[in-house]
Amino acid sequence: MKVIILTGGGDAPGLNAVIRGFVKRACQLGIEVYGSEDGFEGLLNPAVPLLRMDDRSVRGILHKGGSILGCSNKSNPFAMPIEKGSKETRDCSAEVVAKIREHNIDALVMVGGDGTMYYGRRFAALGVPCIGVPKTIDNDLAGTDRTFGFETAVNTATWAIDALHSTAEAHERVMILEVMGRYAGWIALASGMAGGADVILIPEIPYKVDRVVGKIKERAASGRPFTIIVCAEGAAPRGGHVAEIEQVARPGQLKRLGGAGERLAHELEGEVDHEIRVTVLGHIQRGGTPSAFDRLLGMRMGVHAAECCDRRAFGRMVVLNGTTIRSIPLDEIPEGPRLVDPEGQLVNTARAVDIELGAGPGETIPPPRAQSVG
Ligand code: F6P
Repeated sequence: MKVIILTGGGDAPGLNAVIRGFVKRACQLGIEVYGSEDGFEGLLNPAVPLLRMDDRSVRGILHKGGSILGCSNKSNPFAMPIEKGSKETRDCSAEVVAKIREHNIDALVMVGGDGTMYYGRRFAALGVPCIGVPKTIDNDLAGTDRTFGFETAVNTATWAIDALHSTAEAHERVMILEVMGRYAGWIALASGMAGGADVILIPEIPYKVDRVVGKIKERAASGRPFTIIVCAEGAAPRGGHVAEIEQVARPGQLKRLGGAGERLAHELEGEVDHEIRVTVLGHIQRGGTPSAFDRLLGMRMGVHAAECCDRRAFGRMVVLNGTTIRSIPLDEIPEGPRLVDPEGQLVNTARAVDIELGAGPGETIPPPRAQSVG
């Protein structure tokens, strides 16, 4: 059996653990593995050869962030820009299928976000045997209880909150930390709770500014003249919209979010006596050494993907279900992103330790419908 593995979309800590787990198990099972560089680019660009991979190709990579195969969130094989920067696109899926046939490939293993899983469903419908491995720091991929990369991102954001605490206290400031997560608040909620934030704003709970102001004033009145606010990049005030860096998504790409922290600072200015400072954590959350949990989850998923190939269990996505790794049909991945439940246990725990979430229990008005994520 011959299979191709690729890492699509943005990177996430733990990708190399997946590649290593997959390649090692595949070699044991007598499967020939080829890597496609930069996601689908390696399958679309005739000048880029497929990389033959074996045990030696995956030595010394387990602790490294990024992906030894490279990633691309610009290559949607079903809508590729006709040239660099062009808004016009064309469907290149037939070229991918042709390359797979030309090399007598038996299966395509795609490690990626929901965009990549969607391509997997479409390639499966074109007769390509596919396996998906879910990846995103946002932890918003439906069908799996957890994605690798999330824990590392949360650890990094928690470290940043710890660092902000001392300077916030010294200067008696309001410190806003904007974190990633797209339309889901998992990173903000988990890191904010772990870091002891006073206010956490997430997309699933559109916030009322007066509640945030009230929390800052209440803290000052009780002798704590500083406040730490963790604001998800997708958080928006009640009735407002998600802050976007680019209003229009480029072909094959998603809109870039950003500016939620600065917007909140403007909303608070004049309402509170403190100086306000905004830190945007950005891609630091995606980089660095993967946590032990993410290495282990990635490794388990990679090994399982190789075993799915061996059993010819195609058209499936590897998932973490409770504590067990298994797989579900790509067609059965629930629609839309997996979001934080505004009345769920995690949110209730945050409320129980006096974290202000911008709206009271039962007061959540659903945000405007979020678009699909990648
Ligand atoms: O989906 C992962 C993610 O890091 C999001 O949290 C963030 O909004 C986005 O990707 C950033 O994408 P890019 O790397 O294209 O700026």
